[in-house]
Amino acid sequence: MALSKKTINWLNEFNISLKGKNVLVTGSNSGVGLKTIETSLYLGAHVIMSCRNYEKALNAKTNLLQDYPDAKIDIMQIDLSDFSSIDEFANNIIDNKIDIDIFVNNAGTFHKRCVTKDGFENVIGTNYFGVYRLSEKIIPYLKTLPHKVYYFNTISVVHKLVKIDYKDFYCNKHYEHFNVYAKSKLCLAKYSYDLAKKLEDTNVCVYMIHPGISVTPLGANAFGSVISKLANALRGVFNSPEKSSLAMVYSLSKDLPAGSIAGPSFLEVWGYPKSGKIRRCVKEGAEELIAFTESELRR
Ligand SMILES: NC(=O)c1ccc[n+]([C@@H]2O[C@H](COP(=O)([O-])OP(=O)(O)OC[C@H]3O[C@@H](n4cnc5c(N)ncnc54)[C@H](OP(=O)(O)O)[C@@H]3O)[C@@H](O)[C@H]2O)c1
Repeated sequence: MALSKKTINWLNEFNISLKGKNVLVTGSNSGVGLKTIETSLYLGAHVIMSCRNYEKALNAKTNLLQDYPDAKIDIMQIDLSDFSSIDEFANNIIDNKIDIDIFVNNAGTFHKRCVTKDGFENVIGTNYFGVYRLSEKIIPYLKTLPHKVYYFNTISVVHKLVKIDYKDFYCNKHYEHFNVYAKSKLCLAKYSYDLAKKLEDTNVCVYMIHPGISVTPLGANAFGSVISKLANALRGVFNSPEKSSLAMVYSLSKDLPAGSIAGPSFLEVWGYPKSGKIRRCVKEGAEELIAFTESELRR
């Protein structure tokens, strides 16, 4: 579980400390989120693992404590495919005045077709509507904190491959779950870029990060056991979840401007992170998307 020597050298080069900082990461029982937690612990942070499955989070916490016995690790439950769970999670933070310096929306799904508890297509419902609802609830609170808050949304390089068609937003005419996943991340990127601009004069600084391509349970859920076994065999070819998790630290240490995107340097899929290009498809059309989102969430 411990971080590799290469990662430790890379982190040491940036000379960054998170001592005394509170870092919350959603979906942090596995993959990139778990490594984001581990990196934060290495840098001295107190972490809040915000996970759907308490048992999985507890297992991950037990493993982490073997390497970081003095770490302060809290667990909170959230299901981003369930608005009542999102509201409860946000209210818990607000009512208990939980202090947060870095908030990482990492949780995401790439599951085959199903619907959320609230009746939305699951991938868009979780990756976009879930993060949108959580952000709208939690950001007014984060704005009241007496220090800077770094707010990260996890997108994907595949956002650039699709367009949004409001007449068939959920791809009902021809459902293809890769397409739906890419759309969920394009929506999240558009929303994040717009949010960063809206919060420019506040203490909340919004960033986008993405992991490139990394072999994690995400792909296994999407593509089934045969492809996932193949991907596992080839995992060395892709970015490790550990390397993929470094985009957060990179954004902080470089003090990137709000609205920036950071992810792997080589073809946006491999390598250590760098600052990425923000495409026109991300910069444009947020107003229409947000109006559509608000009307969907009211129905
Ligand atoms: N791996 C890649 O190549 C890649 C590429 C681009 C973007 N990403 C993005 O990176 C992020 C992390 O993914 P990963 O690759 O590390 O996959 P992962 O290991 O499967 O992690 C995803 C995490 O999200 C959680 N999650 C899924 N649905 C949830 C829900 N409804 N409520 C709360 N938590 C939920 C999962 O919890 P459970 O364990 O309970 O399912 C898990 O902890 C995701 O946003 C993903 O879209 C990944």
